[in-house]
Amino acid sequence: MKKQTIHPAKYLSGGVAPPGDKSISHRYAMLSALAEGTSELRHFALAADCHSTLNCMSALGASVKVDKDVVKVTGRGAEGLKSSWRALDAGNSGTTIRLLTGILAGQDFTTKLSGDASIQKRPMGRVVSPLRQMGADIRAREDNFAPLEIHGTKLRGIHYKMPMASAQVKSAVLLAGLFADGTTSVTEPVLTRDHTELALEEFGIPVEKDGTTITVRGGGNGIGPRLQARSIDVPGDISSAVFFIAAASMFADSNIMIHGVGLNPTRTAILDVFTQMGASLQVMSLKSAHGEVIGDLAVKGTSLKGGVIEKEQVPLVIDELPMLAALGPYTEEGIEIRDAAELRVKESDRIAALAENLRRMGATVEERKDGLKVAGRAAGKLRGAEIEPHGDHRIAMAFAVAALGAEGDTLIRDADCAGVSYPTFYEDLERTAER
Ligand code: S3P
Repeated sequence: MKKQTIHPAKYLSGGVAPPGDKSISHRYAMLSALAEGTSELRHFALAADCHSTLNCMSALGASVKVDKDVVKVTGRGAEGLKSSWRALDAGNSGTTIRLLTGILAGQDFTTKLSGDASIQKRPMGRVVSPLRQMGADIRAREDNFAPLEIHGTKLRGIHYKMPMASAQVKSAVLLAGLFADGTTSVTEPVLTRDHTELALEEFGIPVEKDGTTITVRGGGNGIGPRLQARSIDVPGDISSAVFFIAAASMFADSNIMIHGVGLNPTRTAILDVFTQMGASLQVMSLKSAHGEVIGDLAVKGTSLKGGVIEKEQVPLVIDELPMLAALGPYTEEGIEIRDAAELRVKESDRIAALAENLRRMGATVEERKDGLKVAGRAAGKLRGAEIEPHGDHRIAMAFAVAALGAEGDTLIRDADCAGVSYPTFYEDLERTAER
């Protein structure tokens, strides 16, 4: 377990290109394994999570060849998956286990699926329940946790009114819908990331959208859906870019360029949050890419105001909340996060992990059931400390950024966990941090 020391910085400068988007890479990996022929996925996420998905798809019979960030996946069609003699391992990845459960529920074989200690603590009932309504036969520890045993069976389409805002649940039901009789619809309570819908269309599956309802038509009659292999570029991950937006914004003299960032409108709410807080952000060279949008972000240092994140804004910035909270002490009014109980069932209990580590650095924090309130600059400067990320990549990276503005060095324990989404994070941060 590597410890990483972070020295204080004066400002950030230069350029950075975040790794391929994690959410999009998972979906392209799964759909290309269900397509007929070879897909080339360029700028595929180097994230350990996405490699868990690739390993699962390979165990299910797809041929997977990885050359740095170019991945070639050869599938044998949607009916071409094979049973795996060993249990599939989703590692630390919630997206892998939940989306795959949807795909596997409609196969004609049984699969065992599990992951690391963190995954085994995260709720799976949220996907098991709608899939059972479709006829799925899934057994789970305590009916809610991995390991899962999925006895593939014939599914029927349903209309699922999703009780929570979750792109993973939406995606699991839609992917199961590909293998079900009839149509499958999901109505979302509020908008969540739409990468599954866009990726399905990209691989040749029609998707209907009507307000907050998304519908797919099942293959039916044993013919199965027809997915076409694609040659496709993955945009840079905006959730990784955010660590650099935050770090640059902290110092008046910063001036950085973040290249090739995915700017899908269901992911860019975080840019609005930063802009509302007074950040200097400029979007440049916008272009569309396979239904997704890519652009560069120019970020300069400013004084951030802080603010409140709540209600329907929360699912749209869910993965960025750790960074926002850790930025709180560098803002004028502090940061308050409400309505975000979901943070307690992420890779770690992120509310507890944020409160604990902010306090280690001397911040003033109020921890609440569904969020936290972090005092702003007036409460005093942060000091370097030893950070415990609890195995959570986003906690480790958020505090590495906060450490740049602290007094004295910070030590991040188990720093390698950043590799779950961003293996070169510390190198990129070191390269752009000026001292
Ligand atoms: C993801 C959806 C979100 C997000 C996660 C990735 C996805 O999870 O937090 O990092 O790729 O669909 P939920 O669906 O649980 O909100």
